[in-house]
Amino acid sequence: VRCQSTSVEKPKEKRNIIDKASNLLTNLLSGGSMGNMPIAEGAVTDLFDRPLFFSLYDWFIEHGSVYKLAFGPKSFVVVSDPIVARHILRENAFSYDKGVLAEILKPIMGKGLIPADLDTWKQRRRVITPGFHSLFLEAMIKVFSKCTERTISKFENYTVGDENIEVDLEAEFSNLALDIIGLGVFNYDFGSVTKESPVIKAVYGTLFEAEHRSTFYIPYWNLPLAKWIVPRQRKFHADLKVINDCLDELINNAKETRQEADVEKLQQRDYSSLEDASLLRFLVDMRGVDVDDRQLRDDLMTMLIAGHETTAAVLTWSIFLLAQNPFKMKKAQAEVDSVLDEKGFTMESIKKLEYIRLIIVEALRLYPQPPLLIRRALKPDKLPGGYKGEEEGYEIPTGTDIFISVYNLHRSPYFWDKPNEFEPERFLVPKTNEGIEGWAGFDPERSPGAMYPNEIISDFAFLPFGGGPRKCVGDQFALLESTIALAMLLQKFDVELRGSADDVELVTGATIHTKYGLWCKIRRRA
Ligand code: HEM
Repeated sequence: VRCQSTSVEKPKEKRNIIDKASNLLTNLLSGGSMGNMPIAEGAVTDLFDRPLFFSLYDWFIEHGSVYKLAFGPKSFVVVSDPIVARHILRENAFSYDKGVLAEILKPIMGKGLIPADLDTWKQRRRVITPGFHSLFLEAMIKVFSKCTERTISKFENYTVGDENIEVDLEAEFSNLALDIIGLGVFNYDFGSVTKESPVIKAVYGTLFEAEHRSTFYIPYWNLPLAKWIVPRQRKFHADLKVINDCLDELINNAKETRQEADVEKLQQRDYSSLEDASLLRFLVDMRGVDVDDRQLRDDLMTMLIAGHETTAAVLTWSIFLLAQNPFKMKKAQAEVDSVLDEKGFTMESIKKLEYIRLIIVEALRLYPQPPLLIRRALKPDKLPGGYKGEEEGYEIPTGTDIFISVYNLHRSPYFWDKPNEFEPERFLVPKTNEGIEGWAGFDPERSPGAMYPNEIISDFAFLPFGGGPRKCVGDQFALLESTIALAMLLQKFDVELRGSADDVELVTGATIHTKYGLWCKIRRRA
């Protein structure tokens, strides 16, 4: 963008200089309190030797729950404190935007909810949230089970008797999650569990590029002509076109069969007889919202990307953890055997699958997706003193980039017993605040009726879907989907890792995934 700047943009440059000067002044006037913030000096090797969130954890233990990470001239404030996270995500949410994340994702998601400017976000969030109503979620239960059945049948076709077969479950979960998000969000059957297609290839190509951009620190794709000259950028734009054409066609079809109705009426439709229960149908049919096709496409693309790899990763890590804990695997299978019958899944049966639900949330605790939430201060702010009861929090100047390390919060020795151990049962034990001022402890009563532990119950010590106004819109969709997929797999198969757990190397972009796949041996259960 800087390379493209023209004389017309000069006033903006001037504003940037003024902004920077005023930030400096704010820093000085605030008694240098941001200056007192502990500083971790990152080396370039920290970026490449291992996933960054590991180093952020080590620095958290060394420097405390709010510290500044400096990479040469660039710095980030790293937050690993529930009280400070609550402030940024909920209490003062609109003083922050998505900063560098929005810059990376805008070329892919346009004005979708994640990178959208505040005005667009407010309009679209108001319209999209009601789409995830209870009858929609119930209708999705059928979609989740049908898609998982396809995965199970595929495995059953590979296996004979009780012999082992080897499969990369991460890749299989990725296909499954893609099929589910396609059907649930825009009623399109990718069929990726059983076949390949240009659209599927384009989706994976785009995801791969999104991943690459979130780990590559020089945004060369913004350079003029990059999209024509750099081969991977050419491919990326070609992939994007394939997906956009596909989404445009789906939007056209939905608009041609539009049946306008008020939100309440839409939410009370007889979902059991609807041929198309998708979110797109809901968004198009909503009365009084004449949204342009481009915005709808951005919304769909955002949900496709936000809801695909994340869910696949939860399933991957749930299996990884269970495979190392055969006793817990057996316990989960015993629960599934006692709950599931021929009638298949209902909301009631999912409520009875308590252990499976806890496995899913424990996997999200140990492997949060994404491991970092990214924010940038739009105006000066003052953070609260954290759980250690610092008298004064730090002043945050405009433009400060912040990483809320969900990974650190979820493995914090100050908030969890044996934080690195896989203990789904831990969520059944209420935890008092144990004298931690400003943190309300862990209490299920704070969110009565919630089927899964969440950020409210844990007062922001557990943030699997973020919190505050920008919290994930698809949280219940994803949780139900993962519960059903995991239960169905465990009902039919015993799973072991092919090698040792140490061989499963981690890599991160937007999500935490494996370097070479999650290769497992699966065997039909007797
Ligand atoms: C936002 C996690 C599944 C759509 C978020 C955020 C998190 C998250 C942590 C907040 C990001 C932030 O504050 O910066 C997850 C996880 C999932 C999942 C772990 C699966 C286990 C889904 C699904 C959908 C979805 C299935 C859609 C069908 C979105 C959208 C946002 C979002 C649109 C942006 C919300 C906004 O800014 O208003 N997700 N998500 N997610 N998620 Fe999810």
